[in-house]
Amino acid sequence: MESIIVRGNGALSGQIPIAGAKNACLTLMPATLLSDEPLTLTNAPRLSDIRTMTELLQSLGAEVSTTQDGQVLVLSSQKLSSTRADYDIVRKMRASILVLGPLLAREGRAEVSLPGGCAIGARPVDLHLRALEAMGAEMELRDGYVHASAPGGLKGGVFEFPTVSVGATENALMAATLAKGTTVLKNAAREPEIVDLAQCLRRMGARIAGEGSRTITIEGVDRLGGATHPVVTDRIELGTYMLAPAICGGEVECLGGRIDLVGAFCEKLDAAGISVAQTGAGVKVSRTNGGIRAVDVTTEPFPGFPTDLQAQMMALLCMAEGTSVLEEKIFENRFMHAPELMRMGADIDVSGGTATVRGVERLKGAPVMATDLRASVSLILAGLAAEGETIVNRVYHLDRGYERVEEKLGNVGAHIERVSGQ
Ligand code: EPZ
Repeated sequence: MESIIVRGNGALSGQIPIAGAKNACLTLMPATLLSDEPLTLTNAPRLSDIRTMTELLQSLGAEVSTTQDGQVLVLSSQKLSSTRADYDIVRKMRASILVLGPLLAREGRAEVSLPGGCAIGARPVDLHLRALEAMGAEMELRDGYVHASAPGGLKGGVFEFPTVSVGATENALMAATLAKGTTVLKNAAREPEIVDLAQCLRRMGARIAGEGSRTITIEGVDRLGGATHPVVTDRIELGTYMLAPAICGGEVECLGGRIDLVGAFCEKLDAAGISVAQTGAGVKVSRTNGGIRAVDVTTEPFPGFPTDLQAQMMALLCMAEGTSVLEEKIFENRFMHAPELMRMGADIDVSGGTATVRGVERLKGAPVMATDLRASVSLILAGLAAEGETIVNRVYHLDRGYERVEEKLGNVGAHIERVSGQ
């Protein structure tokens, strides 16, 4: 099993290119199921989750090829051979549920394994099902699978999400493009990944208005065509690398970064005493003099502070002057990195959805265990600023969401290497 070894090495300096967004790509790929013409995605990230989605789409009969070293994906679903998303693939990646809406819209049926819980919480899929039911789908839960059908085709409907859900908004949005009539999604998610999906679907011929606001209106069309679409920049990878110079000191420019993708996060960095500026090429972050100030953070749906940057922000605040309170409002069990950071000398109390972080002057390297994707990268960030050596185990979590992390951090002066057999 591979591990990553990080040695604290002082200030960082240079440029880090930011890839296309994993979470956008994972919802853009199933959009291929809506059309019999090819969908080309450029700026795709090269990650194990993308390979898992490729495997799932291939199991349904789609053809997926890659060019430019994996950065361009060509997906073609001329003819589908199956409507069943098998447990063996779904259990590896919850985003597999995103084939449900497109399959139902195109084929009038779908059988998708229920994903079950995961390290960060129970993560039910009831809102995905209810939004599709509002379009006339019938759902039956049997043998661990959702058996969905819409024999006469989906019909436009009105659905108000009781809580904001990124994935359920994506599933409903994709399904509604081929439903008969108009669908209105209220209290929809407003994440940049939703806007990116709507833009791609529109390129395919869908009629969508209001993406990025709380209400999305979709007028169903008879068919969608092919398209070429660039995947939006990964705002979580961006935020993660913005934290590297914030934690270690120095100045790093994140190429391709856009401040508007991480507005609430930038406000917190500013309050913590970190300089952030939009440049022509990306986002420049520096901490050249002065320490880190404590700030309180509450995670919220976009445009609020993203839950996917909470663990990394905690790594920064472990070394702030003063006490910070982090409230996790999206997932019930997303502080698994806290005990690992404590093994490195951090002073953290977790009580329910609240973590109180009292800043310490210096963290100390230690062997630590990654529990999920964002937790693993928070431990790497902490290790970059710690005294001595940090060994992060179970790095397969990291490879789900960060491509070439050693190279990207190594190029700005970090001491980081991947080793096998630890
Ligand atoms: C997406 O997950 C992301 N994943 C997550 O990224 C991200 O943390 C999350 O959105 C929130 O921003 C992908 O895009 C592939 P939700 P998703 O539905 O869609 C509850 C990462 O590290 N809920 O917005 O699954 C749910 O339990 C990951 O890259 C229901 O109750 O998140 C949670 O509390 C992890 N019923 C809240 O809503 C449902 O049917 C928000 O979840 C659906 C969700």
